[in-house]
Amino acid sequence: MKRRSVIFGALAGALAVTAAPVAFQAARAADTVKVGVILPMTGPFASTGRQVSAGLKLYMQQNGDTVAGKKIEMILKDDGGVPDQTKRLAQELIVNDGVKVLAGFGLTPLAFAVAPLATKAKIPTVVTSAATSSVTEKSPFIARTFFTIAQAAVPLAQWAHKHGINKVVTVVADYAPGIDAEKAFSQVFEKAGGKVSQKIRVPVANPDFAPFLQRVKDDKPDAVFVFVPSGVGAAFMQQFKAKGLEEAGIKLIGTGDVTDDDILNSMGDVALGTITAHQYSAAHDSKENKEFVAAFEKANKGMRPNFMAVSGYDGMHLIYYALEKTNGSTDGKALIDAMKGAHWTSPRGPISIDPETRDIIQNIYLRKVEKKDGQLYNVEFDTIPDVKDPVKAGELK
Ligand code: PHB
Repeated sequence: MKRRSVIFGALAGALAVTAAPVAFQAARAADTVKVGVILPMTGPFASTGRQVSAGLKLYMQQNGDTVAGKKIEMILKDDGGVPDQTKRLAQELIVNDGVKVLAGFGLTPLAFAVAPLATKAKIPTVVTSAATSSVTEKSPFIARTFFTIAQAAVPLAQWAHKHGINKVVTVVADYAPGIDAEKAFSQVFEKAGGKVSQKIRVPVANPDFAPFLQRVKDDKPDAVFVFVPSGVGAAFMQQFKAKGLEEAGIKLIGTGDVTDDDILNSMGDVALGTITAHQYSAAHDSKENKEFVAAFEKANKGMRPNFMAVSGYDGMHLIYYALEKTNGSTDGKALIDAMKGAHWTSPRGPISIDPETRDIIQNIYLRKVEKKDGQLYNVEFDTIPDVKDPVKAGELK
């Protein structure tokens, strides 16, 4: 009896010792909102991970890590750009880490992989880096701060037709956003009276463009329209030069992914004159952008922000905004509802989240690669304001 009570006493004491930290931890957990970020930090699309994560972090640095009384904790995971990994990591983040928000996703297949989990677990998911129109339709819990390929391809097709380009060959990466690009550009260009003489699709990662560009050269179009995902543009540009397309008088036009600010400066003069349509240029002339670029470069050893970085920066803004609006509630439905209709001035210009589609509405800029102070930039020369995704707006077949 005596021995039992001694043991009991010891047990009670041990419990008393652990009870305080457990309660303390529980209180802290309730005051912390974990944001699970999944990006390709390694592999062929590591530049996307590097840029987006730097954008997310800069926003937190500038705005503090407390929102509506909650401490924001970002947990960054590397999926290497492999959809099965994205899915596994998202599951772990939801189940083991208890994240209340997911963000990132460097390519369309990675966003597709996580969509069913977002729906099942009711986790608001901010897509910073996948541009296929249908991404936001894969889950009612997805919102996007990036762009849709058609948002950029449609204004470019209209511009091309008005500026003496009559015959085009399209060259796109052979996966969902490339197919969107090919469709959107061709439909609008042909409806305007132009001719797309060939539609070429190339492998997504590490493609050898040389044989495809030879086909383009032989076809003698006025221009080649290109979509390749961020990071691949430099290889394209090199082979465009090597094959002598420029000398053959063939213009280069594309969505701004090909003249990605992350690598543009290393492309050399072959990039000069390339006309693209996109949502962000590091050379965008606004007070907000000048401050953003300066702060980003300072925080990242001089790295120039690209359109991925600004998407991460805005993605974290959207998360902070939603948490403010819910007064710190992390209920998934409340958070995604709070994101609908959000609008603010981004370094790229005015943006909003379409309350109907949860997709971004933003300006699209026409830009030309020019040299400024010895450096290559996408210099904006025209603005198409407040562009909605043309696919969801029913503008394309
Ligand atoms: C995509 O996979 O949707 C994607 C990735 C990188 C880009 C554009 C689109 O630059």
